[in-house]
Amino acid sequence: MTGLAGSRLASPLRGRCSVPGDKSISHRGALFSLLGGGESRIRGYSQAADCLASVGAVRSLGGTVQQQGEWLALNPPVWGLPSTSAQGPIPVDCSRSGTTMRILAGILAGRTGDFRLSGHPQLLLRPMERVASPLRAMGATVELEEGGTAPMLVRGGELRGIVHRAQVASAQVKSAVLLAGLQAQGETTVEEAVATRDHSERLLTIMGARLERGLIGQAARVRISPGSLTSFSIAVPGDPSSASVIAAAGALVPGSDVVIEGVGMNPTRTRFFEVLRRMGAEVEMDGPGSPWPDEPAGAVHIRQRSLRGIRVGAEEVPELIDELPLLGLLATQAEGITEVTGAAELRVKESDRIQGLVAGLRALGADAEELPDGFLVVGGHGLRGGLCDSLGDHRLAMTFTIAGLITDTATQVMGREFIPDSFPGFDECLGGLL
Ligand code: S3P
Repeated sequence: MTGLAGSRLASPLRGRCSVPGDKSISHRGALFSLLGGGESRIRGYSQAADCLASVGAVRSLGGTVQQQGEWLALNPPVWGLPSTSAQGPIPVDCSRSGTTMRILAGILAGRTGDFRLSGHPQLLLRPMERVASPLRAMGATVELEEGGTAPMLVRGGELRGIVHRAQVASAQVKSAVLLAGLQAQGETTVEEAVATRDHSERLLTIMGARLERGLIGQAARVRISPGSLTSFSIAVPGDPSSASVIAAAGALVPGSDVVIEGVGMNPTRTRFFEVLRRMGAEVEMDGPGSPWPDEPAGAVHIRQRSLRGIRVGAEEVPELIDELPLLGLLATQAEGITEVTGAAELRVKESDRIQGLVAGLRALGADAEELPDGFLVVGGHGLRGGLCDSLGDHRLAMTFTIAGLITDTATQVMGREFIPDSFPGFDECLGGLL
């Protein structure tokens, strides 16, 4: 347990701030650099622990990574990826990062060699069959523990293109299949019932991949042809998921008026700001338009207003998945009922976020209950101070920390040391607005 997160009714949040670089884009930048023809450069790479796990993974595969001022310079190994070590498979430590492990599996599936992807005990509880199964269908050998968890042994090989109809909405799995597809014979198609974040499609396009996309309503289809990639130079905008934590704090604490600058405005990531607006907060977004496949950025301005409950269903969940704990907290202060369904994926994140969220909110006196695939909150009552266990999950830890801003007495949050997994400098950022 670290520190006291909350105090008696915080002062309003006021002023301007910025947040660290986008975690999803940073991961992709580091990992995709292994496939680029030469030096790739990334400005504003996130220093989140998860993204540093991707840097570590690149290094253990023979890539070089150097920080040069604001830029990270990455070079793929000169002689290609190593194939085995004296002790057997090449070990890659993915720490607590599911994105590192799943995306890397797609890259390694097409390489000659044996690789053993492992990490922190928390990561070894998370489902990996979702990525192993399509890679096996493409011709790779992927071994998991009984129960479908890592360590994951990947033996790359000759791959063939497939049509993958996603059973779970996961940008990580989509990315892995597309990366394997790049190294396969024939075309590979990924079909999603509800489109997930498209950072991989954008970066692969910048790197010269032959990639076609189709959107029919909410469904999405991406087709990739095999081919080699070039290196790239990109700037990473501020992480909209981190910005959402600050935005949620601004929407919760009476009298708040906050501007978050340089936030990623990729339309697959901004749904939470729209949801805040739907709940009654005053939200302005002024992202400058930018041409595909760039990652646009802009400012988000939030002014606290009284909130009302809303319903969120499966069709919105993929674009909100990391922000749903924040929504649960906001719901406690919203008039009426908020119901989230179609979000069973929350149970297999860094923790069971449905269980952890509801338990933490209840510890603060909220009227919240678990649903099999979501949660229900009856809002409109003040919160009291209490003890919240974030289950070692950075997103729950941040959610409970901002809950502490509105509890009547101090709130203690267990597991705040995991916050830098996605948002290094969170306390300083929040503190600068109080
Ligand atoms: C991510 C995709 C999502 C998200 C995670 C980052 C990505 O996970 O929750 O924080 O960068 O592709 P899933 O692919 O498991 O939905």
